[in-house]
Amino acid sequence: MSFYIKWHDRLDSTNHYLKKIIYEGDIVRSKTIIVAHNQTKGVGRLDRSWISPAYTNLCFSFFYAVEVPIPAIPSFTMAMSLAINDYLRSFRMNSQPKWPNDVLVNNKKIAGILSEHIDSSENSTRGIITGIGINVNMTKDQIKEIDKPATSILIEKGKISSIKETLEALIPHLEYWINEWEKNHFESIRTIWETLTGPIGKELEVHDGKDKIKGKLYGYGKHGELLIDQEGIVRTIWSGEIP
Ligand code: BTN
Repeated sequence: MSFYIKWHDRLDSTNHYLKKIIYEGDIVRSKTIIVAHNQTKGVGRLDRSWISPAYTNLCFSFFYAVEVPIPAIPSFTMAMSLAINDYLRSFRMNSQPKWPNDVLVNNKKIAGILSEHIDSSENSTRGIITGIGINVNMTKDQIKEIDKPATSILIEKGKISSIKETLEALIPHLEYWINEWEKNHFESIRTIWETLTGPIGKELEVHDGKDKIKGKLYGYGKHGELLIDQEGIVRTIWSGEIP
């Protein structure tokens, strides 16, 4: 079954909206996309806000009905960053996924992904909500509002893109990587993930919310958790940020 797209003019957050209607008992078909021209209170990971001026970027969330153990959800997000990466590379952008949930172009963030587990007893709906924000038509001035190095398709390509066409062109890549992930979760995306985010042994610094952990990339665990070699001791990091 393919994606069904519902456009909204204005929403606080497409993730919040989708979660709200599911928990209120609406029956939402798997692969329903909620997309907003103007997302007024977008949310990012670690309780951050997602900055996106109205009618400028692609901000959407979709529901995917699947029985999934909670530890496998981060790898779904990683599969979606491979989808965005493929889409950007389809027009020769120098794009790269970044653990755990970013996509970079020329080492600047162009997209972020936020996945949440859904289990609503109200309507027996279980699955994942994944929200995706892609900077499409943000100008250099608008990008300055973001507190980390960021870019947009406009900045990289020098041309305005249609938001609708961007979403439509991304969908086949989402379909492909959902199917890959379904086969064996992180294990079915491991090789490509490691190739694109390596090399193993590179120096890394990760902030896990509490500490700064410095070491060498040792690899990824069964579910895509980051493994860092700190002077011979391998530490597992489930959630964090590589600055
Ligand atoms: C991050 O990089 O921290 C994740 C950002 C996710 C942003 C998207 S925009 C569409 C969807 N709705 C939200 O409120 N957040 C996600």
